[in-house]
Amino acid sequence: MSARILDGRAVAAEVLAEVGVRAERLRARGVVPCLAVVLVGDDPASAIYVRNKGRRAAEVGIETRDLRLPASTSESDLLARVDALARDPAVHGILVQLPLPPGIDARRVLEAIPPDKDVDGFHPENLGRLVIGDPRLVPCTPAGCMRLLAHTGIDLCGKRAVVVGRSNIVGKPMAHLLLQADATVTIAHSRTRDLPRVVGEADVVVAAAGRPGLVRGAWIREGAVVLDVGINRVEGRLTGDVEFAAAAERAAWITPVPGGVGPMTIACLMENVVQAAEGPPG
Ligand code: GUN
Repeated sequence: MSARILDGRAVAAEVLAEVGVRAERLRARGVVPCLAVVLVGDDPASAIYVRNKGRRAAEVGIETRDLRLPASTSESDLLARVDALARDPAVHGILVQLPLPPGIDARRVLEAIPPDKDVDGFHPENLGRLVIGDPRLVPCTPAGCMRLLAHTGIDLCGKRAVVVGRSNIVGKPMAHLLLQADATVTIAHSRTRDLPRVVGEADVVVAAAGRPGLVRGAWIREGAVVLDVGINRVEGRLTGDVEFAAAAERAAWITPVPGGVGPMTIACLMENVVQAAEGPPG
């Protein structure tokens, strides 16, 4: 088998087109959807992500407010800034770019974002709602992965899905979204015994371990769907967590890196901003 490419740029463009329509509807009601992006310090990768978010937002009619703070910012100072954004009725979404400099407790900062403005979906209330099957704002990368899976047209009910990686921002929420779609879900991680066998049983593989080429092509079950969340810089090039060429020989569908999951994350962030600006359903 030779895999079909799951083109994240194309699917993201569809999502962004819908988001643009919703943003326009909000503007017609006098609501300008607004995302506040807080960047602390000068991590170069974070600066690139933040710039890309600002560009995408402008394209779909979402306003952004950029808050750039020095790496020397104290936790209490940052909490006060987040609190001011939390109280500002013109701000619908708040995103604090991670990682934060040492000395700042990211958990405390994320918990200071009101759940209804938490467009990253990282607040314990939003993650808890996802776990109990009543999701509101869902983390963007896992949400983007689900959109890509929907694009394949494959029914996930009863399928075996393996998520490699157990982070709070990707692996854990991803597993719960797959569970909600009635897949049988395994979360594998760095301590998993016999990872090749576990991956080899999966109809859907989501690689989110942050280790370049960890998932070998030969492990992939014939006809599986492979989503590669990894963005690793190796010798100046971006590579995923999956050994792409060999995996593509066996998979039915596979995401490239770049151009797979990455564009979906930003598109789903924009979707969360309009959702937050629209307010609670009903
Ligand atoms: N750093 C890397 N990925 C993310 C993300 O999805 N959201 C935030 N806030 N920071 C990140």
